[in-house]
Amino acid sequence: MPFDVNSLENHWMPFSGNRDFKANPRLVVKSEGIYCWDHKGGQLIDGSSGLFCSPAGHGRPEIAEAVYRQMQENDYIPHFQLGHPGAFELAQRVSRLLPEQMNHVFFTNSGSESVDTALKIIMAYHRAIGQSQRLRFVSRERAYHGVNLGGISLGGMVRNRESFPVTLPGIVTMRHTQTPEQAFARGQPATGAELAEDLARFCETYGGSTIAAVFVEPIAGSTGTLVPPVGYLQRLREICDEHGILLVFDEVITGFGRTGKPFAAESFGVTPDIITMAKALTNGAIPMGAVGVKDEIYQAVTEAAPENSIEFFHGYTYSAHPAACAAGIATLKIYETEGLFERAASLSDYFLDAIWSLKDHPLVVDLRGYGMMAGVELVSDGVPGRRGTRFQKDAFWNGLHIKFTGDNGIVAPAFIAERTHIDEIIDKFRKTLDAHL
Ligand SMILES: Cc1ncc(COP(=O)(O)O)c(C=O)c1O
Repeated sequence: MPFDVNSLENHWMPFSGNRDFKANPRLVVKSEGIYCWDHKGGQLIDGSSGLFCSPAGHGRPEIAEAVYRQMQENDYIPHFQLGHPGAFELAQRVSRLLPEQMNHVFFTNSGSESVDTALKIIMAYHRAIGQSQRLRFVSRERAYHGVNLGGISLGGMVRNRESFPVTLPGIVTMRHTQTPEQAFARGQPATGAELAEDLARFCETYGGSTIAAVFVEPIAGSTGTLVPPVGYLQRLREICDEHGILLVFDEVITGFGRTGKPFAAESFGVTPDIITMAKALTNGAIPMGAVGVKDEIYQAVTEAAPENSIEFFHGYTYSAHPAACAAGIATLKIYETEGLFERAASLSDYFLDAIWSLKDHPLVVDLRGYGMMAGVELVSDGVPGRRGTRFQKDAFWNGLHIKFTGDNGIVAPAFIAERTHIDEIIDKFRKTLDAHL
C-alpha cells in the first residue's frame, strides 16, 4: 500500500524513537486473526497479541458489527448522572468473571486510568471508614502501572521514573521477585516467597495503619513476565489482612484469560480487594479499562455520602462509552462461546515447551512463563535495551511482531492460535536471534 513519507512528521508517536521510525517506518495496514500486513505487503505473525490486547485475534466481525450497530443507535451519552443499558450489561458480565464479592465495576478508557482511578477509590474508601491516616502506598520494583502520574509514582521502571521525577509522595517500593536462582524456572518459581516480607518490614517501619494499599501485577508483565514465586501473593494477602491494608492486583495484562483463568487472582488462588484491567476487555478494538472492587468498598464509599449526592468525585467524559461497552460485550461473548480462556489453559504447555526450545540459544539468558505469556531475556550488548529495540525491528522485517521492553521479549499469542502459529512465532524468533549472533 503506498503512503506519503512526508505525512509522517506531524504525529508524535508514543513510546517510540520518532526520528528512527520516520526514517524507516513500519506501518501496519491490515490485521486479521493472528496476522498483520505491513505497508509493503509483508505478512507478520503477531506474537504479542498487539500489546497483549487481542486474545480473540484481530478483525473480529462480531465486535465490529456490535460497535457499528451501537454507533447508529446511540453514539454517545454523557455518563455523569445519565446511563445507557450497555454500561450496566458490561459491568454485570465483567462481575461474573471477577472473584466472588467483587461485583462493582468502574469504567475508564485505559489501564493507566484504571490505576489512577484505583488510587482514588482507595483514598475515598479509607476516608469513608475513618482511616484517612492511611496515606502511604506500597508498590514494587520493576512494576509497570501505566503512564499517568499515579501510575508512574507506583511504577518501578527506571526510565519512566527518571524522566518524570516529580511523583506522588509516600510511596515505598518492595523488591522485585526475580532472583538469579530462578533462571529458566518455568511457571511459578519455587523460591522467592520471602520477598513478600518487604511488606512486613514496611509495616514495622512506617506502621501498618498508615499504609493504604499495596499494588502489584500478579505477573509483572512489562518488565518481562516475572511470575510470582509460590506462596508470595498469599503472603502479601496475609500481611495486608493483618494490617487492614487493601491489596490491588493490576491485571491490565493478565486479565481475561492470559493465565488460563478469567483473572490471575483465580489462577494463583489469592483474592485481592481491587482488580484493574483494560486491554483484552474489548479485545483491543476500542480503548477501555475498568476497576473491579469488592462490594464492601463500593458500599462504604456510597453509603458514607449524603443521600442524593455524588458519592465519588471522579469520572471521565468517555467513561463507559457506548461503543466501548458494545465492543466489551461482544468480546466477552466471544470468550465465552469459543471457550477461549479454557483454550488458553490447554494451549499453555505447548506454548511454554516451544518457548523453552529457545533455551539453548547463546543470546538467551533467561526464560520465564506462565499460561499464555512468556519472557525471553536476551543478553545485553552493553547498553541496556539496545539489543531488544534492534531485535524488535529486525523481527518485524522477518515477519514477526514481538513486544520488547529493554532486552526482554514478551511473547503472548492470541488464544485462537493453532500450534502451527506458535511454531511459526518461535521459528521466526530463532531466525532473528541467529541473525544477531
Ligand atoms: C500492568 C499494567 N498496568 C497499566 C498499564 C497501562 O495501560 P495503558 O497503556 O492502557 O494505559 C499497562 C500497560 O501495559 C500494564 O501492563
